[in-house]
This record gives sequence, structure tokens and C-alpha cells, in this order.
Amino acid sequence: MATILKPNKENLREMRKFLRLGELVAVPTETVYGLAANALDPKACQKIFTVKERPHNDPLICHVPDFESLEQYCETNPFAKRLAEAFWPGPLTLVLPKKSIIPDIVTAGRDSVAVRCPSHPIFRELIEGCDFPLAAPSANPFAYISPTLAIHVQANLGDRIETILDGGPCHLGVESTIIDVRDPKSARILRYGALPIEQIEDAVKRRVDRPLPHQSGMSIAPGALPKHYSPRTMLELRSVPVLEEELQKTDGSIAYLLLRKPSHSSSSNIHWLSENGELDRIASQLYSKLRELDAAGYKKIVVEEAPELGLGRTINDRLRRAAFQ
Ligand code: TXA
Ligand code: MG
Repeated sequence: MATILKPNKENLREMRKFLRLGELVAVPTETVYGLAANALDPKACQKIFTVKERPHNDPLICHVPDFESLEQYCETNPFAKRLAEAFWPGPLTLVLPKKSIIPDIVTAGRDSVAVRCPSHPIFRELIEGCDFPLAAPSANPFAYISPTLAIHVQANLGDRIETILDGGPCHLGVESTIIDVRDPKSARILRYGALPIEQIEDAVKRRVDRPLPHQSGMSIAPGALPKHYSPRTMLELRSVPVLEEELQKTDGSIAYLLLRKPSHSSSSNIHWLSENGELDRIASQLYSKLRELDAAGYKKIVVEEAPELGLGRTINDRLRRAAFQ
């Protein structure tokens, strides 16, 4: 079983040593827990793919301490800089042309690399003492629900890794937003995420392209597969009117997951993600609630669709992939 470590100075020093030696460490970020390796060490990165059972055509995100350090790893441009000034450290990943120091295994052989600077204080302290970037996908088996607590990592990967750094619950709870800024004139969101697209557009005072439908196979973001983030229990998404009707005749073997607490309900199979429908709260609770319901032995999980704006887009994106058969 992996050891869950408190993030004190001594443990952080040990973890840096461990990473330098080519070992993996599960680490907290503000979005989800990541499974980190020295991004400049192909053998260490290979371990990530093995542990997660992740296909090699799915590239990894490189985590860096600041925008300035990007110089060593990729080509930057003024648009990328503007985004980093507005949102780093934070849940925004930039895709940029890579430099040769980044091993092919990290980028799945592409000539671009995804880079992000997380804001979680423990992660920042860890990476500021490293002289290499950290390649880190979410610390879950490929295609399962991402972890937002150290015990989620322990439950899924505890027998395959040695250490998990405990940073408490990830407060955003969904992965970073990924934007392709290789060509600033045609910047495109590749994955909806914790940073709403509206906030990006507000900051840069222009529209950015939305993800292409069905980004899979040969597309730019192979990780954005139609089926992902999935519980083992069958999951279905419902619009509000359909759900309301269904709730009239609920069957106890189906779990209903609502966005807000219902005004009157006593059924033990009815669950909710927030008191009043606050989207940031819903996002932060989503994965841990899905894990809980997945373990509870229901025949099916039925989830209420979020409004298609701001973080609601990200929530629906994850739910649609979780529901994909
Ligand atoms: O919030 C996050 O982004 C978390 C935390 C740990 O930082 N990480 C995360 O990593 O979600 P992961 O491996 O689950 O998702 C990485 C995705 C890939 O599946 C792919 O869609 C995209 O990032 N990606 C990585 N490199 C890329 C590249 N060069 N071009 C296009 N997309 C890329
Ligand atoms: Mg992932």
C-alpha cells in the first residue's frame, strides 16, 4: 500500500529526491491529484503510462513553476504570455510548440507540449525546489473518475505506487482548461475545464474557438476521448423536465444526483451536489460524489444536466463522457 505523507518540509525534500531518481509521486493540485514524474526523464515518464494503463498516444501535461521557465521547454508568444499573466498560477494549460529537451514520450511524439503552472501551495512548494518540470496526468487508472482526495488515489493506485502527498481536497475538483495557442490567431479550447471559457474571453477581449466535436483518434487532443471519467456503474444524464417526471416514480435501485438540494425529499437514493446550485461547488463535489455513488451498489446513476454556460459546460462535458457507452 502506498504511504500517504503529510506535506512538511522534510517529506517535500524526500519527494524531490525521489522524483530526481526517476520515481513517481502522487501530488495534490487545485484541480485533481496528479501522478508526477520528472518530465525530462523518459524512463520515469514511462512508469506513468504503465501505472495508469494509459495508451501511449495520450500526451502528458508538463507542470512548471512559472511562465519564465517555459523558455527552456517550448516556444512562447505574446498571446500565451497574456493568458499566463491573467491566469497563472491556476487551472489553465497552454499547448505550445515544444523544444527538443522534452522527450517524445511526454508529447506522444507531437511537436507541441501542454504546459501548466498549478496554484496549489503544496504543489508550488514542491516544484519550486525541483530543477525539472513535472509530467503529471490525473492520478487515476485510465478512463476512470479523477481523484480529488489522497484516499481516492490510494483506493485506485495504492498497490502500484509508493507515495501520495496529501494536500487535502482539491478545491476546484475538475481538470484544467486546455487551450491550443500555437497560433494565437486561431486559439482553440481543446478541453473544457476549471477555468470557464467566458473568463478567458473576457481577459483577452476576443472570442476563442470551441473544442471540435468528438476530439478523438487523430485529433489534437487524443485524451479527450468520448468515453472518459467513467464510474463502473452505468450513468445517464437527464435534462431538468425529464428528471422531474422520473423522480415522481423513483425506484430505489437507481441513484439520482441533483445539482441542488431538493426542497422536499426524503428518499435515500436522492443525492445532491450543492445547496443552491452554485456551479463552483457542484464542480468541486462532482468526482467525489460519483465515486461514492459508484461504490454504493446502485444499478444506475442518473445525473441532472447543468446549464450550458461557464463551469456548467465543463460539468456537462465530464458527465457526457462518463455516460458514453
Ligand atoms: O488539471 C489538470 O490538467 C490535471 C492536473 C494533474 O494538472 N492533469 C490532467 O492531465 O488532467 P491528463 O493527463 O488527465 O490530461 C492530459 C490531456 C491529454 O489527454 C490531452 O488531451 C491533453 O492533455 N494534451 C497533453 N499534451 C497535449 C498536446 N501536446 N497537444 C494537445 N493536447 C495535449
Ligand atoms: Mg485524466
